[in-house]
Amino acid sequence: MRADIERILIDEEIIEKRLDRMAEEIGRDFPQGNLLAIILLKGALVFAADLLRRVPRQLELECLNVSSYHGGLESSGTVKFLDRSFPEVRGRHVLLLDDILDTGRTLHAVAERLRAEGAQAVHTCVLLAKDRPRDQEVAADYTGFVIGDEFVVGYGLDYRGRYRNLPYVGVLTREAIEREPGA
Ligand code: PRP
Ligand code: MG
Repeated sequence: MRADIERILIDEEIIEKRLDRMAEEIGRDFPQGNLLAIILLKGALVFAADLLRRVPRQLELECLNVSSYHGGLESSGTVKFLDRSFPEVRGRHVLLLDDILDTGRTLHAVAERLRAEGAQAVHTCVLLAKDRPRDQEVAADYTGFVIGDEFVVGYGLDYRGRYRNLPYVGVLTREAIEREPGA
């Protein structure tokens, strides 16, 4: 797996230090209330697990499975809600967690849905934000790292379903991108 990585963009140690700071900030911003953290599967799973364990306050947890990339390099343009049910969010302060803000479609679509379902406030938190124009006007309230407009994997992010369990964020080799699936 390491052989498929051309370059490590953000290593484990740097991620850990940044998560300490983000968790502190979130703890300060939400001293009390009814915070509900919602993790967007599958990409945000690793990030959220590491971040939320550091947040020094009570919160509740829900997951939403949404998809727009279908494992490839480019957004399909539509955000699909894959769950049969939707969590009860009426009147809640939601902290929405995702791994990466790219075109902005995912965060925008989910935040809209949460508001439509009656959430009192929607706060957004991403590990990575690409430095690029967004298709949807959306900015995260908490951002771990701003990165260039390149395709990255690891720490939850996939290519064709793989590389999510890498402990760092990295850039794939051209060869790994072009390899046939399953090879
Ligand atoms: C990826 C990523 C974000 C979203 C970001 O999810 O995890 O959720 O795309 O892109 P956007 O800003 O252009 O919408 P994906 O649809 O690949 O599903 P996954 O989380 O299951 O990998
Ligand atoms: Mg995702």
